[in-house]
Amino acid sequence: MELGNGTVAVVTGAASGIGLALADAFAAAGCAVVLADVETAALAAAEQQIAVAGVDTLAVVTDVSKRDQVDALASRTLERFGHVNVLCNNAGVAGGGDPWFGGVESWEWVIGVNLWGVVHGVRTFLPHLIASGSAHVVNTASIAGLSPGFSPAYDASKHAVVALTEGLHNTMTTAHLPVGVSCLCPGWIRTNIADATRNWPSDMAPPVAPDAAAEVVMKHVRRAIDEGMQPAAVADQVIDAVRENRYWVFPNPEFLESVVERFHRIAEHLDPAPSSQAMPGMPPREQIIAEVVAALAGGHA
Ligand SMILES: NC(=O)c1ccc[n+]([C@@H]2O[C@H](COP(=O)([O-])OP(=O)(O)OC[C@H]3O[C@@H](n4cnc5c(N)ncnc54)[C@H](O)[C@@H]3O)[C@@H](O)[C@H]2O)c1
Repeated sequence: MELGNGTVAVVTGAASGIGLALADAFAAAGCAVVLADVETAALAAAEQQIAVAGVDTLAVVTDVSKRDQVDALASRTLERFGHVNVLCNNAGVAGGGDPWFGGVESWEWVIGVNLWGVVHGVRTFLPHLIASGSAHVVNTASIAGLSPGFSPAYDASKHAVVALTEGLHNTMTTAHLPVGVSCLCPGWIRTNIADATRNWPSDMAPPVAPDAAAEVVMKHVRRAIDEGMQPAAVADQVIDAVRENRYWVFPNPEFLESVVERFHRIAEHLDPAPSSQAMPGMPPREQIIAEVVAALAGGHA
């Protein structure tokens, strides 16, 4: 689809990281931008930053895990602009404690934002996107949606996003509806996701602090994110995909080897096994295991 003056783009999780870069890129393309985020102060700052491009902006504080708040986001968008063309379901969180022995709240939070946020976004906006006559949905999944190994709740939420996005795409193409669909699957991107628990809901029991083993892994994850791709480069690829109506967006194709390896194992009916290669950006598995063992023994790796 064409982007420019008259195009209205909604971006969730727009106050930081990939979402902020997406908002910036749609503004640079001349679109009006609706920024939605749960973090009030960061959202206001993001709107100011985007408005510099000289496009119309609207900021709506929204918790995407809550259906009524996503409904309100759509209403505010339509009241202001009368139509909507692009929806980026991008808000996402990670972390929050041990998946098996910690509180169930970490599952509820991660699934609530990462999966229900996308479900609410698609279901609420789809009739309006179709009515616009030329539209596109971008769902931010992750390489974790094709190859588990980050954390079970996060992996599960992102697998679900990959699956529902494919279903949406197939419905739109089969029914010849005017809505393109893209599935964004990043690897490591330089954002604030390692500090996602800053948005942990105040009405949930607080997350359990990571233990020594989790700290070891987090240290490497933080470094990989800090050394990751710039969000602006991801946003450029998304803009191209929307313009060219391309489904997959893989900013870090080096991760696809492990995805292919996993599906080969599935086709051969082999039990799951860690990839034979170190995950890009991470040290070899044996090193991480040795560091975890040392940390649990109270020593220094
Ligand atoms: N950074 C990476 O390496 C990476 C890799 C793969 C996928 N992703 C995905 O990219 C997306 C964006 O994350 P990011 O890396 O830019 O992180 P980020 O923390 O920089 O940005 C995420 C934004 O989402 C907002 N948010 C959190 N909970 C929300 C809620 N309930 N409702 C509305 N907004 C909410 C945050 O306030 C923040 O502004 C996420 O879906 C994430 O899972 C990130």
